[in-house]
Amino acid sequence: MKNLFLLFALCSTLSGCGKVIPADTEIAVVPKPERVTEGQGVFPLTVSTRVALLFDDERLPYVTAALDEVLMPVFGRGLEVLEADIPVAEAVNIVRDEAMPADGYRLEVAPGRVDIVAGGAQGAFYAVQTLRQLIPVAAYDVTNVRAVELPVVTIEDKPCLGYRGMMLDVCRHFFTVDEVKEAIDLMAMHKLDVFHWHLTDDQGWRIEIKKYPKLTEVGSVRRRTLIGRDPGGEYDENCKYDETPYGGFYTQDEIRDVVDYAAKRFITVIPEVEFPGHAVGALASYPWLGCTGEQYEVRQTWDIDDRVFCIGKESTFEFIEGVLEEVVALFPSEYIHIGGDECPTVMWEKCPHCKARMKAERLKRPRQLQNYATARVEKFLNAHGRRLIGWDEILEGDVTPTATIMSWRGAKGGIKAAKQGNYVIMAPTTNCYLDYYQTRDTAGEPLSIGGYLPVEKVYALDPYEQLTPEEQGYILGVQANLWTEYIATWPHAQYMLLPRLSALAEVGWSLDRKDYGDYLRRVRRLVKLYDAYGYNYAKHIFGE
Ligand code: ACM
Ligand code: ZN
Repeated sequence: MKNLFLLFALCSTLSGCGKVIPADTEIAVVPKPERVTEGQGVFPLTVSTRVALLFDDERLPYVTAALDEVLMPVFGRGLEVLEADIPVAEAVNIVRDEAMPADGYRLEVAPGRVDIVAGGAQGAFYAVQTLRQLIPVAAYDVTNVRAVELPVVTIEDKPCLGYRGMMLDVCRHFFTVDEVKEAIDLMAMHKLDVFHWHLTDDQGWRIEIKKYPKLTEVGSVRRRTLIGRDPGGEYDENCKYDETPYGGFYTQDEIRDVVDYAAKRFITVIPEVEFPGHAVGALASYPWLGCTGEQYEVRQTWDIDDRVFCIGKESTFEFIEGVLEEVVALFPSEYIHIGGDECPTVMWEKCPHCKARMKAERLKRPRQLQNYATARVEKFLNAHGRRLIGWDEILEGDVTPTATIMSWRGAKGGIKAAKQGNYVIMAPTTNCYLDYYQTRDTAGEPLSIGGYLPVEKVYALDPYEQLTPEEQGYILGVQANLWTEYIATWPHAQYMLLPRLSALAEVGWSLDRKDYGDYLRRVRRLVKLYDAYGYNYAKHIFGE
């Protein structure tokens, strides 16, 4: 018995026991790196391999934590970290090359050591994500792994686009903090860097605002939810409801926790507070925010709602500024998204306050009330050192030259904006709406909002379409959107995201070298990693 104990003690200290998992025969990294130079041999990464830090950066602990996270499912533990002046043999060395961009890296696996050479901590983080794809997949199925062999290779990469985003709608269906963190994990695996958090809508207000507590007390719960597809009208007699209250919101502490979790994965969180449309969650909480002052219920169906913020009353601006004051204190992002999509003007047309505003501001059309409201909110954000993003509807009328446009109704809004000198994020329905079906054969699919967006179409996104090289400079990047009217669970959300998110990642990283056939080869390897992590993903591209 004593001898057995000694053997265990020896195993855990010297790592002399356990299995060695041979390197995979093929190197297949998604998104496609700029350069992959294969060599001969392997580096055996073991539980006793150390990590040597050769430069100082306050974010380097995020990189070593990421490496620990990557190795945890393999070894059940992370690696010892030390500081060093010169590269250490048999170690993973993390080195800075100031000539590289902060998010660029070179991962060099040699028989005697691994070097991560990066422009900064962010680049080193991406090198770790690449290293994750070099770990033999067999390692995840085995317990008591002593070493994983990494193939000798040099991989160099840097992203083509600085903004590589994913939006999650937590209003139509709510996702817990743990699920949101898993969404952020998925983004990190795919080297995305902006999490757009859609926090307010007609069907629920999901962020605690201390100044306006009813937003979550009242606005975060709907009395019931439509069953099946929306026939197009709250009071349509064909609607069937589940008659079950549905709610959820994030406290400010939870929001800070998520922002911090994302930051440690080099992901910026951009909050979206919808204004002036998609407002019923707010209006149900504070009826004076609407044109008529009527008491509404939090919406129970999905289509566009006429009931929007009143632009005539000053109290509306006091409210939105009060909300945004707390939002900017919670989110350090340069950008704040104020929505702006799908805002009908019918209430404004009948409202004495809105009519008075039009007269006072010499506005000719009701739609210009939205321009007025957006410009006013933008001024407020600018005064707080932030910049405004809005959906492409904010282009209708006079958009300020400093607003950033998220193009969703196709690319045309983004193209127009870039040509007139507004910054743009491309997220067109045609390529980026991951709530759409992934196959034409929808019989076996979970109910979806409709549409048809196979992986290949996501991959085909060209954010520079119709733009001159100078105009292309206004394209900040690309984003996949996951609206959740018909997505009630996190496994279902994963199914809609994967593997399409990997195609979007390849647009963001590898735009200048896209090759769909080659992607199809590499994504077969990536989904083995999805399997190892237990992610739910769609298999249509594999003929399944
Ligand atoms: C949107 O899909 N309504 C931005
Ligand atoms: Zn009004």
